[in-house]
Amino acid sequence: MQTTLRKAGELRTAKADLVVVFVPSGDGPLDGPAAAADAALDGLVTASRADGEITGEAGSLTVLHTGGRMAAPRVAVVGIGDGGVDRWRAAGRAAGNRARELRARTVAIAPGDAGADRVAAAVVGVEAGAYRFTRYRTEDVAKRPPVRALQVLGGGATAAQVRRAANTGTAVSGARVLADTPSNDMTPTALAERAEAIAAGIPGLSARILGPRELTRLKAGALLGVARGSAEPPRMIVLRWTPPKRRRAAADQVLGLVGKAVTFDTGGISIKPSQGMEEMKLDMSGGAAVVEAMGLIAQQGVPLEVVGVVPATENMPSGTATKPGDVVTAMNGKTIEVINTDAEGRLILADALCYATAKAGATRLIDFATLTGAIVVALGEVYAGLFGSDAEWTDAVRAAGEASGDLCWPMPLHEGYANLISSRVADLSNSANKRQAGAVYAAQFLREFTDGRPWCHVDIAGTGMIGGAGTGFGVGLMLHAAEALAGS
Ligand code: BES
Ligand code: MN
Ligand code: ZN
Repeated sequence: MQTTLRKAGELRTAKADLVVVFVPSGDGPLDGPAAAADAALDGLVTASRADGEITGEAGSLTVLHTGGRMAAPRVAVVGIGDGGVDRWRAAGRAAGNRARELRARTVAIAPGDAGADRVAAAVVGVEAGAYRFTRYRTEDVAKRPPVRALQVLGGGATAAQVRRAANTGTAVSGARVLADTPSNDMTPTALAERAEAIAAGIPGLSARILGPRELTRLKAGALLGVARGSAEPPRMIVLRWTPPKRRRAAADQVLGLVGKAVTFDTGGISIKPSQGMEEMKLDMSGGAAVVEAMGLIAQQGVPLEVVGVVPATENMPSGTATKPGDVVTAMNGKTIEVINTDAEGRLILADALCYATAKAGATRLIDFATLTGAIVVALGEVYAGLFGSDAEWTDAVRAAGEASGDLCWPMPLHEGYANLISSRVADLSNSANKRQAGAVYAAQFLREFTDGRPWCHVDIAGTGMIGGAGTGFGVGLMLHAAEALAGS
């Protein structure tokens, strides 16, 4: 949606299909835009509060009809609870969602004297709340048109901060579209084409796509081993952002962003149960987030060199598929016994991490992957699992997630888990025979391919896909992390 910053002005004359004001919980006096709406509507907000209908509870929303008393036909009064940044994000989401339900084409939010972080969170929230995956709907689109324009009436954010938030919201939606698109259309080739299209539109951002021939030359045997079973050729998508003027503080740094993109995970020969398998079209959510985040980082002109590496493949059973017990060799020469073909994510990430360090020059890494069911059991849909080899870098990644709302909770790595990744015939096995610490085991495996560089692994199996749909988890985190590393 087109997002613009306007002067606060008179709420009464604001032109939009839906005007949004924000109220905290409690029964303190109304102020700012909420008080202005109350005055314009002859005390209707006050009356609804007295009634207990408007509580200010975070994410709660009440729509009031203005009946000609304001230029806008409706006002949404949205709760921000204790007024924390995440409450503003939730409030924005509630407003965006209701705007879409109401078929509002233009929305105006009136954040009053809220600071930049809160205004930005609300903007990102509105975009997220208004998101619908409509590509395959032949009827609903005309009935539920997208929200076209968002006006920000005042608040403490600059035009650049509002633009940053709007760009973030757009990139998050972009990642959700990629994830939600089914695997017959979102193939490794299609994902690569999206990466190329993004790069074509932004000077300084380049895309390089490696196919089976280049991957064979690179000896990326782990990715090729997963791709063997599929009729769709694999791709290693490499996006590179080279800023026009690099800040000296980070001139020696290249941030590597790696994202798992299994465009469909059947499990391979170790096939998954059919129940719910359709959700495995979302097994490319990490890669989708990296592709869109690279576009966002470049669009924002972050003064830091960044490389995105996205291994993309299907994981299919077939006469040519890798079988349990087969041994593959990753790009760094390490051999892996494939005990379970459903533990394919760590295999393709192994080669992508090798590529990011050895070929693309990444000095520090973050990978995003819908990697294990175990992390869903451990942390559910709220926190992603965060593993890291370097305490300072891990803290920075966690802080970036707190700032963007992509919450990450620290998980351990330890020598003591090493026995889980040993094989009787190869350097490593891809699946432990003990049913324990499944998410840790996967992270411990990935670490073998990071060349000792500061690295974080974010397991987004719970947070990246919720209710059978992509969430765009990680996009905002990556922008924050890149900006922080660049010192901007
Ligand atoms: N893509 C799955 C993980 C997953 C599960 C993501 C549920 C989202 C929801 C991954 O490739 C997988 O199959 N992992 C296995 C690993 C096991 C075989 C060691 C798992 O978690 O069961
Ligand atoms: Mn799998
Ligand atoms: Zn998978």
